[in-house]
Amino acid sequence: MRIVKLNPGFHNRNAFDCGSEPLNRYLKYYANQHSKKDITRTYVLTDEKELSKILGFYTITMSYVKLSDEKILPVALIGRLGVDKAHQKQGYGEYLLVDALLKLLQASEIVGFTHIVVDAKDGVGQFYEKFGFVPFQDEKNKLFITVKTVRNSFQ
Ligand SMILES: CC(C)(COP(=O)(O)OP(=O)(O)OC[C@H]1O[C@@H](n2cnc3c(N)ncnc32)[C@H](O)[C@@H]1OP(=O)(O)O)[C@@H](O)C(=O)NCCC(=O)NCCS
Repeated sequence: MRIVKLNPGFHNRNAFDCGSEPLNRYLKYYANQHSKKDITRTYVLTDEKELSKILGFYTITMSYVKLSDEKILPVALIGRLGVDKAHQKQGYGEYLLVDALLKLLQASEIVGFTHIVVDAKDGVGQFYEKFGFVPFQDEKNKLFITVKTVRNSFQ
């Protein structure tokens, strides 16, 4: 399996369908625009036999969490993660998530941040909880994990 940065001239974004229209639309229309503007980076898992075929993708960027009116906490954000419907439940979602966490762990060696946040869709929070993410008290579909926890789990 190969995870590479989205190459809009090569990867077939139109054929991808993870069952969530907002995620499909993001990959098709916004992922490349946002990458060109340095807003997000999108990585795709490709089929080994057909390298232009996208099996799954995720995006990562920096964000923040508001702690109080005066205090914000800078965090890394896994904003979107999806696996093509025909390939779900085969471990690809886990593979993408682990790859995203490893990339962010590397990034945290260069730019310090303490937490990684994910924006989950309705009912998908449990997928992330399996890997140690904890839901925010006031926003169930937003979950976090500390960089320290990620580092310890990969050691
Ligand atoms: C959620 C999603 C990414 C999971 O991908 P996947 O490739 O099917 O998941 P995996 O096969 O890697 O599953 C890994 C583990 O998570 C569990 N899991 C998968 N989807 C789950 C869900 N929706 N809720 C709870 N647990 C889930 C699996 O049972 C598996 O557990 P196990 O190891 O104990 O068997 C995929 O279903 C998807 O793309 N859904 C539509 C888009 C979406 O909602 N994305 C997430 C929000 S950004």
